[in-house]
Formats: sequence, structure tokens, C-alpha cells
Amino acid sequence: MNFTQSLMIVVMSFMVLISGCQKGDNLTIDIEVKKLISQMTLEEKIGQMTQLTIDSVSKVKGTESDLHQIDLAKLEEAIIEYHISSILNVYDAAYTLDYWHEIINQIQDIATKKTRLGIPIIYGIDAIHGANYIVGATIFPQSIGMAATWNPELVRKEGEITATETRASGVPWNFNPVLGLGRQPLWPRLFETYGEDVYLASVMGAEYVKGLQGNDISNPEKVAACAKHYVGYSFPLSGKDRTPAWIPERMLRELFLPTFKSAIEAGAATVMVNSSEINGIPVHSSYYLLTEVLRNELGFDGFVVSDWNDINNLYLREKVAATQKEAVKMAVMAGVDMSMVPYDFSFYELLLELVNEGVVPEWRIDEAVTRILKVKFELGLFESPYPNVKLKKKFACGKFRKVNLQAAREAITLLKNDSRLLPLSKDKKIFITGPTANSLSVMNSGWTITWQGDQEDLYPKSKKTILQAVENKAGAKNVTYLPGVTFDKEIDINAAVKAARNSDVAIVCIGENPYCELIGNIDDLTMTQSQLKLAKAIEETGVPVVLVLVEGRPRIINGIVDDVDAILMAYLPGMEGGSAVADVLFGDFNPCGKLPITYPGYTNSLMCYDYKNSEISEINDYDAQFPFGYGLSYTKFEYSDLKLDKAEINESDELNVQVTVKNTGEITGKEVVQLYVSDLVASVTPSVKRLKRFSKILLEPEEAKTVNFTLYKDDLSFIGRENVRIVEPGEFVVSVADLTAQFKLK
Ligand code: BGC
Repeated sequence: MNFTQSLMIVVMSFMVLISGCQKGDNLTIDIEVKKLISQMTLEEKIGQMTQLTIDSVSKVKGTESDLHQIDLAKLEEAIIEYHISSILNVYDAAYTLDYWHEIINQIQDIATKKTRLGIPIIYGIDAIHGANYIVGATIFPQSIGMAATWNPELVRKEGEITATETRASGVPWNFNPVLGLGRQPLWPRLFETYGEDVYLASVMGAEYVKGLQGNDISNPEKVAACAKHYVGYSFPLSGKDRTPAWIPERMLRELFLPTFKSAIEAGAATVMVNSSEINGIPVHSSYYLLTEVLRNELGFDGFVVSDWNDINNLYLREKVAATQKEAVKMAVMAGVDMSMVPYDFSFYELLLELVNEGVVPEWRIDEAVTRILKVKFELGLFESPYPNVKLKKKFACGKFRKVNLQAAREAITLLKNDSRLLPLSKDKKIFITGPTANSLSVMNSGWTITWQGDQEDLYPKSKKTILQAVENKAGAKNVTYLPGVTFDKEIDINAAVKAARNSDVAIVCIGENPYCELIGNIDDLTMTQSQLKLAKAIEETGVPVVLVLVEGRPRIINGIVDDVDAILMAYLPGMEGGSAVADVLFGDFNPCGKLPITYPGYTNSLMCYDYKNSEISEINDYDAQFPFGYGLSYTKFEYSDLKLDKAEINESDELNVQVTVKNTGEITGKEVVQLYVSDLVASVTPSVKRLKRFSKILLEPEEAKTVNFTLYKDDLSFIGRENVRIVEPGEFVVSVADLTAQFKLK
């Protein structure tokens, strides 16, 4: 074989190798990215690290009356002269699918046809509980409600539907899921989380990512996920948004990193950074968290985007940088790949200077751009940058609505049902009152149609408020409604009392006004005084009272709990929330939600369920109004025969756990079987118990099922004194409902 022949063989094998790789294959993509980067100027590369808000390239911002308009000259400047990579969001309006198509077409036309290299733009939106910036989208319960379903399949479907509807607009990137743990109930973004438990949130977060992305994000119905806000954002000491968190390394590793680990294992393509600081270090400036932990330990290989203006904030707000330029250097060198700038070209200009001055090395730019372009290739944006009009017919279809209704129903958590007041019969005379009874915006809250979600007039008229859905069931002539109070003012409590006296039952709907991010900061977790006063006054009539809570955070209600007969926690149940609440009230659906958070009894006793032994004593207890994992049904379940297949195990053994659950009531129902493990003695003070498995099962009356779980070494592990995950021999207790069984790890 001569040299030419050998060369031919090498070339041919290489071609076979490449052609054997399907579209979207890693190897093909790596080759394409390398090729593209080798052709890029420094300016083009830095542009790829830049993300602007659509406002910055618009003439008119856009509200319902004032339709949004792109400013083509500004858009061309941004894309052609500054080579920007990404555009995000809308703020004050939702657009129709057709209008989205117009915008995305305009953007991609410029990016792919008028630039030297034709690199498509990656547009991102906050489709937090459905594709909320698209008119008519399927809007689910907020994540706290999705967690209350304890049904990972529903969360996966939410992800799938959100992906299809988001991609139907032409947008391929969703800034969700929120993976911070909801362990600080004052925090106004609690409703965006999957609750307080690390295992539940890890399972739900990973399912959502799988739903959004599937196995291949080049699929025209999938979008890239953005696991956020890495890390520790959800735990501000003050409870106010974007304020400092103090999280020791052990706690970070035990509670706040695992949700990100499981989302990364599920394939999350991008990560957004915590806007705030941990232990005095703004996360946008932390090489340790963004590179050593995220990349080297968790193995994340997608790209990292900053949060809104947060590179500038290192200088403006956090004061760890003396100049804006220093802030840019800090963030880029810490590991931020793309800056959500979002209004100007300052990031681009300063970073260009920094590289030209030799302060930021070009390899770091290449690294960031490689990661960004890789995701653009993986999404198939180079082949199909434009909206896929075929998806229009799937958008907000009846099938999606049904899944949404099921999610809202399964979220609703029955917290009290004395003397079996619920379900109500449909021939009762009903009085319904309170500021959350007749509003769609209160059931959806932030990230719905607009950022704050508070513009009631923009909500679809086809969706039902709780009042409308109750009227539908019981007949309008049997239902009287008076608001009684607003969230902070009395309207006419006397009239409400009078109307209640003339009814068989009163439904009191209270909770929270819509809010998002720091606008939702509060100084007191207590339910507002006007609402407590209304509830108290109605209770005093002696008419049976059902309390319906529509809220993103567990507002303290201890003064009114004892005297109401029934309590339904609806969370923020989304567009089908009214129908779902009515289905539960009248027994057309048997409630099966369980609290994914502790419902605190007192403002200053904010413990989570996995507290330490020393946190309780003869003086104080886990003073929950309702504990984590709690929720009633209209039927009854009995647990028996909790069995472990071994009394002693080695680290490499599996432990099989079995328990039997029987429906001993009269109607079909779903039950969430929850398995907790307690480590009795450990070198780091153990939690009293930790959720390790759960399974939601359906049981007909008299039906019994045996549920099997398998536990592994990891389920017994914890972060030890050296801050690494360890397992220690000793005694452990498995508990399911009120049954327990003990085993020993040798
Ligand atoms: C929020 C992010 C969001 C971003 C873009 C920020 O204010 O913290 O969660 O993705 O805005 O809208």
C-alpha cells in the first residue's frame, strides 16, 4: 500500500465515522463547533456570550393596547455589529403564536442570512408553569403545586407540553426548572420550587428536564432546559428575594447541590446562576461553585448563563468589583459563559477590552463559545432556526388541557375535613366569599401572561374562577357571592356574615395576591388581617365553613384553623384551578395531594420536617400546622405488613422494603406511599428522618396493594465531617405511615 492509498483509507474511515454519526451526535457536533470557532473573529466570539432583552431591540415594549414592535435597525445593530447570541423574554404581554413567528423569523433572518457566519440566535423565555408568554398556552399549577401531586409522571408531562407549546412559538430555550429547595417560606419565589425536600425536588426536577428535553433536543418539539438558580438562591436568611444566604459547605452538599446533580444527570443543557450570594461570595463571582463544583464535580457540560444584570451587579449591588470591567472579568473567569446583560453592549465592549489587554485569556472565550454553540447545534438551530408551523395545531389542544386539569386536581391537598363536611352535595345553598374566590390571576400569580401575572383583564375568559366553577356544579341560583374583603381592606364583612347565615355552607377563599420575585417580599408570613377577620366573622355564624387557600407560600392561619370544618390547600393551581377546586369540593375528584412543604403554625417556628433531634424538647416541638407529606382523602387507607428482606446488610447490598396498603373506605382513591429513613446515630447529627422513596398508587374500595421499594447504600449516606458523602455502619429505621422496621448496616 503506497502513501496515497493509506491516506485514502484514513480519510474514508473518518468519513464513515462521521456519516455513522446521526444528526445531533456529539462527535459530529464537536467537529462542527471546532470548525466554526476556527473561522470566528474575537468580536464574533464575544458576541456569542451576549444576551439582550427584547426590549432593547424594540420600538414599543408591548402591552395589550400598544402592540409590541421590533425595531429592525436596533435588531440589526445587535446581531450584525455586535454579533449577539441570544435574546430573551417578554415582560408586559403575551404574544399570539403568529406574532411570535413574525418576531422569530425577523430575528433569524438577520442572524442566518445577514451575518458572515449565519449563526442562529437562541431565544429564551421563562415558561415557568407553561408557555406563559404565548396567548392561550396551557398554564399549569406552579411548581409547588406540581410537587404536591407527588406524581412525577404529571411533572414529566408538564415538561413535554411546555416544550411543545414553547417550541411552537419558535422559542427553543426555557429558563426552568427552579431547583432551589423551598425551605424559607417567606421567600417570594417559594412557589417556583418543588418544596422543602431534597429527594422529592430532585425527582421532580429531573422529570421536568426529561419532559422538556426528551433524549434529543434537536427533536422539533423539545426545548433546552435551564436548571436554576445555581445554587443556594432559595435560602435567603431574611426571606427577601436576592438577599444573602448563609449555607455551610455541609448543608450545601446535603441539601442544595443534589437537585442540580440530578437535573444535570437528566441532561439539563444550561444552568442559570444564583443572583445573590452565599457566605459573602456572590455566586456569579465564585470559581469554586461555577467551575470546581459545577464542572469538575457535577460534570456539567452545557453552558452557564448569568441572571438578569447580575454581572453588573457584582459592581453595582454586591460591591465585590470596583468597576464594571472588573465585574466582567470576575464573572467570566469564575465560569459564566453567557451574560444576560440585558440592555446594552457594555459586557461585549468590556470583555473585548479585557481580552485585548491580555487580562482574560482567549482560551476562556473559546471554552464559553464552544459550550454555547454546542447547545445551538444540539437544538438543531443551524438546520431549522425558524418556527415549525406544524406545531400550531397541537398548541393548547384538548389533550393538554386534560393533563393540566388532572395536575391541578392531584395538587389540591385536603388538610382538614371534620365531621366529613366535604364532599358537598350539589343541592346545598352555598355562600362563597373572599378575595381569591373570583379571580384567575390569583390562581396563577407570577410568570403568567405578564411578569407579575396580575393583569386580570388579560386572562382567558374561557377559564373558570372558583366561583364560576362552583356555580357550574351547584347551579347559579344556589350560590351567593360577596368578596367581603380585599387582600388588605375590608369591603363589607357584615353583608358577608348576613349572606352566610342564609346558607347551608360557606366557602371562604383566601390567600395571596399575584406577585413575582422581589415584588412579593413580605415582612410577616401571617395571612393578612382583612382576610383573617373575614374568616373569623364567617366562622362565628356557626354555618359550616370550608376554607380554600390559594397561595404561593404557607401564610400563617393558626387563629382560624380550629373553627373551620374543612381546609383545601390549592397552592397556585393554574388555569384549571377553579374547575379542579370545584371537582374536589363536590366529590367529583377524590383529593390526593400531599404537602411538599411544612405548613408552619407560627411565624417564628419555621422548621422543616427533617429537623435535628435537638430542635425539639419538652418545651418546643415540630409545631407544624400541617406537616410535610400530609394530606387527607375522602376514603381511608390502612397500612400493614411493613417488611424488610434483611435485618442486616453490607454496603453493597440492596435492601428490599415491602408494605401493604388497603383502601378501607367506600370510594376509589390515590394514596402517596412515603418511605422515610432515620439514621439513629451518626458522626454528624442526623435528621430525625429523611424521605427516600415514594409511590402514588390507585386503590379501589377494599383493594389492597403491596408496594415494593429498594434502598441502596446512597440512601443511607450523608455529608460527613470532612464534607464528603459517607456511609457509616449502625442502626437505621425505615418508616412508612405509622409503621416502622429497623435494620443494621454492618
Ligand atoms: C429571574 C430569572 C429569570 C430572568 C429572566 C430574573 O429576574 O431571577 O429567574 O429567568 O429574570 O426573566
